[in-house]
Amino acid sequence: MELDVRNKGTIPVNHYLDFSQQGYQVIRELGRNQEGGRIIYLASVCNSEQKVVIKEFSFASETELLDSDAYEREIEILQQLEHPRIPRYIDSFATSANFYLVQEYKNALSLGTKRDFKPTEVKQIAISLLEILVYLQQQVDPIIHRDIKPENILVDEQLNAYLVDFGLARRQSAKIALTTLSAGTLGFIPPEEQCGDKLTQASDLYSVGATLICLLTNTHAANIGKLIGDRGGQFPGLAHQLNPRFRSWLMTMVQPNWKNRYANAAVALAALRSIPVTGNATIVETLLAAIKLKKRTAMFTLAVLGMVAVAATTLVFSQQGGAAQQLKESKSLIDFQ
Ligand SMILES: Nc1ncnc2c1ncn2[C@@H]1O[C@H](COP(=O)(O)OP(=O)(O)OP(=O)(O)O)[C@@H](O)[C@H]1O
Ligand SMILES: [Mg+2]
Repeated sequence: MELDVRNKGTIPVNHYLDFSQQGYQVIRELGRNQEGGRIIYLASVCNSEQKVVIKEFSFASETELLDSDAYEREIEILQQLEHPRIPRYIDSFATSANFYLVQEYKNALSLGTKRDFKPTEVKQIAISLLEILVYLQQQVDPIIHRDIKPENILVDEQLNAYLVDFGLARRQSAKIALTTLSAGTLGFIPPEEQCGDKLTQASDLYSVGATLICLLTNTHAANIGKLIGDRGGQFPGLAHQLNPRFRSWLMTMVQPNWKNRYANAAVALAALRSIPVTGNATIVETLLAAIKLKKRTAMFTLAVLGMVAVAATTLVFSQQGGAAQQLKESKSLIDFQ
């Protein structure tokens, strides 16, 4: 028999693990988290066109000591969810070294891949994402995702958002182990998570806000913490291109104190729907912008805030949305000076 020497010493065509016994064939790697000991594969179901995602959890990694039940938790949460924009749980199996979670493949690009969205498109993505959070928060014991960031959000051509990676997700009532307190990704973690305070339904809103700011300012996810920390809400480019009400909505989402954010996804979504993304400011908004520039003393600010409150109440009664919401948005603009 003649030997084919062309491939000698090179990696075989499909050098991935053989899952044929489990009924899957790996197509390619989708991602890899070296530290966490996870590899994510795109695979197909044998003898079918159906694509799936296989997430490999290696317990030979450092995470073994930190978070050994990550695999079970992700399975447990995914099994309980049924939403068209959350990957469906399909299967799980173990080999001698690893655990594997098989889930539905969503054919959409992650926001971790650089893409240019117009502000109106960002609003559409925000609405789509918040709808998923409303579903998660409507559970009897609401689910907090805890790792919302561009890489964990997929967006298709029609701007539908999909939420993936429930590896850190928790029921709101669950006690969080000390070792996993500051899980999540720097810049997207709400301050209450960093401090080990209890998580609320407003916690994921912070991460949504930070993600949207990434998209609107074309900031790479790795730099968002620096952007929010350094600028105190003064994001380059945001003020000019956005309607002040939309900007104010965003600022409310990333308020450091969760009590100053929207209470939950449903409230944030209701507020967002009626807000124009671009366009001119109202009288109240112009006044707020002026305060922003001329805030000299705390007394002055407080006095103007009082005036704004009166003006906002009068104006907002003639516009869509409640007066309380408008005041909340107004306050967030001032807080961020
Ligand atoms: N169900 C899915 N459909 C399509 N793509 C997916 C799916 N699940 C994950 N991906 C892609 O694979 C990447 C890695 O998956 P995932 O976030 O679940 O793994 P991870 O190891 O927990 O990631 P990290 O630790 O980097 O956040 C995602 O960013 C996404 O691009
Ligand atoms: Mg991820």
